[in-house]
Amino acid sequence: MKKTVYLGMTADIIHPGLINIIREAGKYGDVLIGLLTDEAIAEYKRLPHMNYEQRKEVVENIKGVAKVVPQKEWSYVNNLREYKPDYIIHGDDWKQGPLAKIREDVFAAMKEWNGEVIEIPYTQGINSSSLNKNIISVGTTPDIRLKILRRLIAAKDIVRVLEAHSGLSGLIIENLEVLKNDKRLAFDAMWSSSLTDSTCKGKPDIEAVDLTTRLQDLNNILECTTKPIIFDGDTGGKIEHFVFTVRTLERHGISAVIIEDKIGLKKNSLFGTDAIQTQDTIEDFCAKIKAGKNAQVTDDFMIIARIESLIAGKPIADALQRAHAYVKARADGIMIHSKHKTGEDIKEFCLEFRSADKTTPIVVVPTTYHHVTEDELKQWGVNVVIYANHMLRASYPAMLRVATTILEHQRASEADQLCMPINEILELIPGTK
Ligand code: SPV
Ligand code: MG
Repeated sequence: MKKTVYLGMTADIIHPGLINIIREAGKYGDVLIGLLTDEAIAEYKRLPHMNYEQRKEVVENIKGVAKVVPQKEWSYVNNLREYKPDYIIHGDDWKQGPLAKIREDVFAAMKEWNGEVIEIPYTQGINSSSLNKNIISVGTTPDIRLKILRRLIAAKDIVRVLEAHSGLSGLIIENLEVLKNDKRLAFDAMWSSSLTDSTCKGKPDIEAVDLTTRLQDLNNILECTTKPIIFDGDTGGKIEHFVFTVRTLERHGISAVIIEDKIGLKKNSLFGTDAIQTQDTIEDFCAKIKAGKNAQVTDDFMIIARIESLIAGKPIADALQRAHAYVKARADGIMIHSKHKTGEDIKEFCLEFRSADKTTPIVVVPTTYHHVTEDELKQWGVNVVIYANHMLRASYPAMLRVATTILEHQRASEADQLCMPINEILELIPGTK
């Protein structure tokens, strides 16, 4: 009987290194490709440019590939136990670094049926990571960017979103990675906040900065990033206006708009009942959601309904009733907001909502209950966490300190060490030098 060789891969970008390893594998037997699913990849790396089905179609048609099966976890072990291949083949680059543990587990598993691990010299100079960087530097299209949010929600336990109010803050979100427990932690998406967009302009967060103005700033972010964007649509305005907002956002490649169920002069939610917060009727807000859903052109754009019951001092039961009604009106997700510091009200809402509705994505904004961790939010059934204003709030004290230091010393020397080195600017922004 012909032997089988297992080869795990993402296969997002097909390059000679990949063809080489498939060719090498073919020398040992039938090549069984374990193609990593979006879910398997998302916890560890950026989502691939192509989805699983697209990657499968490509790989199935590469010469020398006998069969493609999904590998649903980052670790090979479960698939190896299932298919018990005679061989597994891998580049020898996994001997050191974050893959060393995976390698150990593979050796242990293969021993169970006397399988063999083949390590071949890694193809230097060409690999997916460097090609990926090149692709990202080319940019994206509105269509590709728009679709990513739904894929992220499907693939990840929790989608991590940070506020961006400028190209510069967007670039940090785009590029920052922190290595922790072999995982590359990164932000998945950006939040375009009405609070920080208004604050940047020295204006109050009362829908005084119009859509056209906000889009101009958003455009700066779109120009230099590729990650998806969730737009804070405030109340969505009049129904007749909201339908145009939806189409405008879609055309720009924005993935989702969140609208809140308030009417009248909108005040920022974090004032709670210190401001007059008037909620819309369920009926009228549902009509707004439906009008938006009917207006959108793509299938992927999301309209997320934000419930302000807890902000307006109403009970959790009111929030739940609204949540279910909004879902029925075809909202693609719900955001529940609160300004309480404990997070207990949010937890109770999420657990109750999840017990009745297993699928509709839940979005939360833990500004006041900031002690709650992402792991806890996952357990409550939350799908998207938005850190809604932290980039702007971080920049203000930094600027204030530098300005004060210059005044105090009547020169810039003491302030200089508080500032980003000029050289770093040259490196950060491609094309500066
Ligand atoms: C925003 O960021 O503008 C929001 C969230 O709407 S909050 O400020 O908490 O209301
Ligand atoms: Mg807002």
